[in-house]
Parts: sequence; C-alpha cells; structure tokens
Amino acid sequence: MAEELSIDPSLSKKAKYQSLVPQIEALIGDEKDLVANLANIAAALRFGMDFFWVGWYLVKEGELVLGPFQGPVACTRISFGQGVCGTAWKNQETIVVKDVEQFPGHIACSSDSKSEIVVPIFDPSGGVAMVLDVDSSELNTFDETDAQFLKDIVSLIEKNL
Ligand code: SME
Repeated sequence: MAEELSIDPSLSKKAKYQSLVPQIEALIGDEKDLVANLANIAAALRFGMDFFWVGWYLVKEGELVLGPFQGPVACTRISFGQGVCGTAWKNQETIVVKDVEQFPGHIACSSDSKSEIVVPIFDPSGGVAMVLDVDSSELNTFDETDAQFLKDIVSLIEKNL
C-alpha cells in the first residue's frame, strides 16, 4: 500500500486529479474499513490538492453527522436541507458554490471558507449515505472538473457500501 502521496504542485488541476486518483485507489487497496478509507481520502484530497477543508458528513438518524476530516474543527451536525451539505443531501445532487456568501443558508464553519463543493454518496438502495464536503479559502475554486473527479473518488467508497 502506498503511504505517501506524490503530486507535482506545478500541474494543472486536472493533471493533479489524474495523478491523485490512482494513488487514492492504491491507498484504499483491499481495505474494507469505511472510517479508515474516509480518513485517508480526506487527507489525500486536503494535502494532494491543497484544499482548505475536506471531510465527510454521514447520514445518521435523520441528520448529517461529522465524520473523518482534515482541516479546522467544523460543525458536528447538519439538518436535512440545511446549508450546502443538507441541500446536496435533500436534492441528491452535487452542488458547486462559487461564493459561499451567495448561497442562501450556507453554514459558515470557518470565515476562511470562500467556495465549496458537496458531493453526495449513494448506498445500494439509492439513498444518500453521506456527503463529501470540500472547502477552499479562495472564491471560484470548484467547477465541473472537480465534480467529475470527486465523483470518481467517492465511487471508490460507494462500491463497498
Ligand atoms: N459549509 C457547509 C457546512 C460544513 S463546513 O463547510 C465544514 C454547509 O453549508 O453545509
């Protein structure tokens, strides 16, 4: 199992993801433990892509509850339909927020977070099991490239749910 990431910081975003995805696949390998894999993916994205905050919120008893993450401390619980995470859960779709101040109901865990993407993860019955939340300290960080590669990355988790 690879235990160190190697990402050339001079690469384009797309090329960084193309380099990172196989490294995440190797990191997960045959590991079936959910928390271990969520934790390593959060670290790989946080440090491989230099994002401000990367973490998972898991659906538990009708709420999103904070799971493994990398970055500053964050809010523990988010209601259905609340904030970007709760909206991605409710709408069952990826949400790209170019400027968090323009998203009605955005939950500001940190004033340093300026833009955000949230990707839902589906269980085999088609329900949302958790969401991946990635925050940037700069505006306009996320686009369709992030959405596509993050969906590829969360599919590595989905296939073991
Ligand atoms: N901003 C998120 C809350 C989670 S933090 O960003 C870590 C939201 O509005 O759902």
